[in-house]
Amino acid sequence: MNEIFTLKWRKNTLVLLDQTKIPREVAYVECKTVQDIYDAIQTMIVRGAPAIGVSAAYGMVIAANTYDGKSFSDKEKFMDYLRECAEYLKSSRPTAVNLMWAVDRIMDKVEEMQIASIEEIKAEMEKDAIAIHKEDENTNRTIGLNLLSLLKDGDTVLTHCNAGSLAASAYGTALAVFYMAQEKGMNIKAYADETRPRLQGANLTSFELAEHGVDVTLICDNMAAVVMSQGKIDAVIVGCDRVAANGDTANKIGTYSVSLLADHFQIPVYIAAPTTTIDMDCPDGSAIPIEERGADEVLCVNGGYIAPKEVKTYNPAFDVTPAEYITAIVTEKGIVYPPFKENLEKIMRK
Ligand code: MRU
Repeated sequence: MNEIFTLKWRKNTLVLLDQTKIPREVAYVECKTVQDIYDAIQTMIVRGAPAIGVSAAYGMVIAANTYDGKSFSDKEKFMDYLRECAEYLKSSRPTAVNLMWAVDRIMDKVEEMQIASIEEIKAEMEKDAIAIHKEDENTNRTIGLNLLSLLKDGDTVLTHCNAGSLAASAYGTALAVFYMAQEKGMNIKAYADETRPRLQGANLTSFELAEHGVDVTLICDNMAAVVMSQGKIDAVIVGCDRVAANGDTANKIGTYSVSLLADHFQIPVYIAAPTTTIDMDCPDGSAIPIEERGADEVLCVNGGYIAPKEVKTYNPAFDVTPAEYITAIVTEKGIVYPPFKENLEKIMRK
């Protein structure tokens, strides 16, 4: 990996790559308050399920460290303040469950430390956030290897949105397959959907794959059927924001259409899913909250209007691919095949 990094923890400050500026500019934003972290997640300076989970974990550390002990005398007030910050950070984006998972993991530990001092709690929170970050790095590699075991040298993979190093701590999830292939001396090529409305495929995926020397071809979203019909695609590999207990999977809007096309052309669809993205409390896709974002994302491209300002829009940021269109869910603990309900339960118990 070269110099560009997605997120770095530097003594009470989370440094984030500003992904709203890629590929035009490589710039970083320093987050020093809970509000900074909330805004960075909400405005998508940082995005991608694992990356927002790790950022929110550090956000909780920042919450503890910026707590003004002088104006709150007792520990219960400190705890209440942390609980409030936890809910606030969790409300920054609704769909990716990694965000809730990371904040809850930090808070569960905090709630167990009833007899500890505030200083001890702060130290434990930082240790845990760093552990979440490190675990995500390791998960990225294992998912990449597991995905690679499903492909053969020379294969071409279509991906949607960005589930790469920009969306996580190291290699990413779906895109980890290309980086692990490079490490193993295999040649796996990529087709990247541009991914309207926010163009993560064009701005981020084609950028990061090209930066790392992966053979990547960018296509507009409406070209997926043609490239599949021409026999150019051996597998579809995408990331996810939340996998329900029955295997229904929420990912970037457009993933559902790609999965339907792949089903038509009998191309396997693999979901790269860290177990932190699997929500066994969600029985099926209908229980997954889908974020709706502003009209300007649909009305504008690169800041310029491509439609009349007043026209009505609809902008769901994610869709749910029904489990029947998914060939396998690839986690760091192993590859899960249908029947997903039983097999996800088994893998989550590992
Ligand atoms: O809206 P975004 O850019 O946060 O959406 C990102 C995705 O949909 C990714 O595919 C998903 O979070 C997995 S990232 C490893």
